[in-house]
Amino acid sequence: MLRKTFWGTAALASLVLAAPSVAQTIGFSQIGSESGWRAAETTLTHQQAEERGIDLKFADAQQKQENQIKALRSFIAQGVDAILLAPVVATGWDAVLEEAKEAEIPVVLLDRTVDAPEDLYLTAVTSDLVHEGAVAGQWLAKAVGDEPCNVVELQGTTGSSPAIDRKAGFEQGIAGHDNIKIIRSQTGDFTRTKGKEVMESFLKAEDGGKNICALYAHNDDMAVGAIQAIKEAGLKPGDDILVVSIDAVPDIFKSMAEGEANATVELTPNMAGPAFDALAAYMKDGTVPPKWIQTESKLYTQEDDPMAIYEQKKGLGY
Ligand code: AHR
Repeated sequence: MLRKTFWGTAALASLVLAAPSVAQTIGFSQIGSESGWRAAETTLTHQQAEERGIDLKFADAQQKQENQIKALRSFIAQGVDAILLAPVVATGWDAVLEEAKEAEIPVVLLDRTVDAPEDLYLTAVTSDLVHEGAVAGQWLAKAVGDEPCNVVELQGTTGSSPAIDRKAGFEQGIAGHDNIKIIRSQTGDFTRTKGKEVMESFLKAEDGGKNICALYAHNDDMAVGAIQAIKEAGLKPGDDILVVSIDAVPDIFKSMAEGEANATVELTPNMAGPAFDALAAYMKDGTVPPKWIQTESKLYTQEDDPMAIYEQKKGLGY
């Protein structure tokens, strides 16, 4: 497919003449550093850029959409060849994406999706966020069988696509298992600190935790914070309260090896590799990538030699 389908014929003619054979300068608007997973994504993006000789202009938005919009406008003003955007929330991007489109700068979404017309970005490199939640829910349904199970849920950042989709996916995963009920659900902002704080309030509200059978956290960092809260409440995480989460960061494997976490669904932090490959092909001969470049999701449990995985992963930028 040629890039014509993305920008239209008139724009195509000028872009073909102007475009370098590979992307040289790429702006990256990163959300911040709320989790170990995000730190790894940032590290890998820098590494991947360096390997390809790309001049990466990095902007840390400190969790604020307004900072991301400013960064995008600054990248557009600088005339970068392309933009990577990891969008903190799903809505509110149309205007700035229109500006990038008018400037003929392709935008690639990383790890999260947006609620905006598809013609405003080149492609999105993400996992199937709904599927991740469903895998976590199915794992729990299998683990508890017919036993009654009250679940507390730590959601990701409010309004972000992983928070929305992982919630919906988990609900799909436990659908039809009437013995499993989500009794409390609140955002922990994808951070350890907030995960711990919110878990403390769940424990307090649920008879010191006696009424809780499982924790589902939308990322491992919140789960790690919550595990601490469970221990401080005198309970055994992984046993008194089952723990299932998403990301597969090294620390959750340590917790799994210690019996304090039960399962995690892996999200690769290497979103930039496929994004740069798609951009290189697009810049070279106009090859338009599919609208969604899907990364793999894999379930890990205590049976997968978590200590060995911790050792493999711990030096990888998390
Ligand atoms: O968008 C991906 C999510 O964002 C990761 O699961 C979480 O850790 C992060 O901060």
